[in-house]
Amino acid sequence: MLAVVAAVTVSATLAGVVAITLAMIIEGRPKNIVLTVVAIGGLVGLGVALVNARTVVRASRSLVTAVENVPPSGRFTPPPTPLPAELRTIGAALEQAYERLRLGRERERALESARRELVAWVSHDLRTPLAGMRAMVEALEDGVADDPETVKRYHVQIRVEVDRLTGMVEDLFELSRIHAGSLRLSLARTGLGDLVADTLAAVEPLARAERVRLSGEADPHVPVYADAGHLGRAVRNLVVNAIRHTPAGGTVLVRAAADGTAARLSVLDGCGGIPEEDLPRVFDVAFRGEAARTPGPDGGAGLGLAIARGIVEAHDGEIGVVNEGPGCRFTITLPLGRA
Ligand SMILES: Nc1ncnc2c1ncn2[C@@H]1O[C@H](COP(=O)(O)OP(=O)(O)OP(=O)(O)O)[C@@H](O)[C@H]1O
Ligand SMILES: [Mg+2]
Repeated sequence: MLAVVAAVTVSATLAGVVAITLAMIIEGRPKNIVLTVVAIGGLVGLGVALVNARTVVRASRSLVTAVENVPPSGRFTPPPTPLPAELRTIGAALEQAYERLRLGRERERALESARRELVAWVSHDLRTPLAGMRAMVEALEDGVADDPETVKRYHVQIRVEVDRLTGMVEDLFELSRIHAGSLRLSLARTGLGDLVADTLAAVEPLARAERVRLSGEADPHVPVYADAGHLGRAVRNLVVNAIRHTPAGGTVLVRAAADGTAARLSVLDGCGGIPEEDLPRVFDVAFRGEAARTPGPDGGAGLGLAIARGIVEAHDGEIGVVNEGPGCRFTITLPLGRA
């Protein structure tokens, strides 16, 4: 294009000057001088234009080659030859675009591997108690276990396992609804204080069993627009975690207050702090902290906090955790529901 523009401009100018020179009836030496000067000017202009055009074409080819040679890792390396200013800008933009693509792909891969891990862990967590229950049922069926004490113990054990599995399947169902974006919230003006009171009442037996003191400090006038059922579940997940991770004799403090435009609900426990490197991962699906994933007596599936985050985000809120005092503090921030 550059060459065509230059050729057209030069030939049009040349033709014009030649025509004028001939028409103006300049004769002899002056006419030759004019024509020679014009011819040399035209040739020089064409030459410069051609050289420029070749440089630009070569640079743009090297840019195309660089794009074609982007490795599967998705890292773009600009061509080693220096580029003209315009192409340099395009090169920089390409580099940024490839970087964004690469990060996106990495994130996708991490999500995919988390999902695969979840399926593997959950099937493991479901299989272990099922195998135990099967053994107990077979023992009962064959009459191997026939003394009343053992029979009663087996029944209790089976009941406990069934409850745990039911909870886990319910959690998985809730999580899949959150991830599919099909969580139906029926929002209504709700007092955060009432929600805290209900939650504390519900987890009281667990706290007593674990000998953990429960304490609530809720401002009665903290209105939020929320689905009380779902938000209650999120808060319960936090409080149950806090009770489970607080040693006997410790305290779990649940606080609800409003500041300016936001409502804040926090759960402070005495867990002794979460390792710094685990803090950003506690809300990940299937994250359970310890490396060995052998389910303990009340070992969960690592879904509670992922569900809490999904529910809070569906309410346009935020959830976070920091280490504080004798343990850690989980905080839910929600927009304040106006009257
Ligand atoms: N209050 C807390 N104090 C210390 N560690 C915590 C606390 N809450 C969560 N964690 C850590 O984060 C992990 C994930 O918690 P999450 O509630 O998602 O799963 P879980 O409690 O193990 O299982 P689930 O809630 O599905 O029964 C826990 O296993 C624990 O390591
Ligand atoms: Mg939990």
